Amino acid sequence: MEIKAPRGTSDILPERAQYWDFLALEAMNLFESFGYQKIIFPTFEYTEIFQKGIGQSTDIVQKEMYTFLDKAERSLTLRPEGTASVVRAYVEHKMWNRPQPVKLYYYGSMFRYERPQSGRYREFWQIGAESIGSLDPLIDVELIILLMDYYRQIGLQMIELKINSMGCPLCQPAYIEDLRSFLESKVNEICSQCKKRYKLNPLRVFDCKNEQCQKIYKEAPQLSKYLCSECQNHFARVKKGLDLGGESFQIDSSLVRGFDYYTKTTFEICSPLIGAQDAIGGGGRYDGLVELYGGPPTPGIGFALGLERVTLALEAENSLPQKKETKGIYVVSIDDELRTEAFNILLMLRRSGFQSDMDYTGKSLRGQMKQADKKGARFAIILGPDEIESGTYTVRDLNSGTQENVKKDNLVEFFKKDR
Ligand code: HAM
Repeated sequence: MEIKAPRGTSDILPERAQYWDFLALEAMNLFESFGYQKIIFPTFEYTEIFQKGIGQSTDIVQKEMYTFLDKAERSLTLRPEGTASVVRAYVEHKMWNRPQPVKLYYYGSMFRYERPQSGRYREFWQIGAESIGSLDPLIDVELIILLMDYYRQIGLQMIELKINSMGCPLCQPAYIEDLRSFLESKVNEICSQCKKRYKLNPLRVFDCKNEQCQKIYKEAPQLSKYLCSECQNHFARVKKGLDLGGESFQIDSSLVRGFDYYTKTTFEICSPLIGAQDAIGGGGRYDGLVELYGGPPTPGIGFALGLERVTLALEAENSLPQKKETKGIYVVSIDDELRTEAFNILLMLRRSGFQSDMDYTGKSLRGQMKQADKKGARFAIILGPDEIESGTYTVRDLNSGTQENVKKDNLVEFFKKDR
């Protein structure tokens, strides 16, 4: 048996996990200042939730879900995204009884059976936000600006925003009909996957990554020409709001974003520096989803961003946060018998809130000092028999190399001083 994490998954070791904490904390502070509150939902749902919400014709539902039967033969699926779960929770808890819109954010790993490559994994992490209960185009603007502000706040500069309008059930059918006729005329030139796609839901052909198909779809009818006056008006107000907010954007009429639930506004943010999987976040409106799950007609909109890709983009821009300077303390004992006293000091320091540690592997004095350095400690407390007897310890500042003698009773005070 190979001792290895499953294909497409990986361990996030401490060196990298610190970025996850950084990204989550920054999101928490910013999202809460925009009025979003945290929601935690299950890692798996009844399979129907995703089939119904994301849509039977999507790649996610067709090919990418981790679906299994539990012991009672219920079909469950590991969450491939968060929106369906948040909307399911909104309906289950009748959140329309709360002040609208209900603004929620989340953080967690998602699962998609995709072909792994740089920036694309089978388990990956998302931070997402959803605003359910308002049709105001300013909410679309708020979410897009929230996402762009977030990227800038964490240090990303080279980011590109694309937006589109997908229309609504009023204007989409005429477009889909024309798109289907167009695809019928090209049926011998498109890939086998698209031949299936266009029968199930012609809009899904725009998710195809095949170059030949993409070339053909450039000539396809454009949804923007079919928008009803309400959708046109909504889109115009979103664009105006973004202009007012100083946000530049490109309009991409093929941005249909892989989910059947989208209506009206869709958006995606890319980093030009991270290769083929360049979308670092995206989202859109889903004005029919609450109703689809049995709730009252309720509009909604949200986004999610991928932590792995954001970290890759930060790395490419050389903007990953520097490791914080530590004030950690390493307690070093000159001989083995003093380790119990070293442990006592450690407990005292920890209970006073200081990050501190000692050696548990029987290292020599030199070895312990090296370890203190490797662990990034700022101070070492050195214990020898004389120190124990006199009750006065040597404290070495590992940055400057200077030493001071400090009485045991004064140690906590000594470290409390802002040095
Ligand atoms: P999505 O575009 O599928 O949207 O995913 C959002 C982000 O998650 C992507 O832009 C990307 O950064 C990251 N991502 C997606 N798949 C992978 C993968 N296999 N490996 C690594 N990163 C990945 C959604 O999930 C929607 N729920 C967004 C949304 C919220 N729409 C409305 N509300």
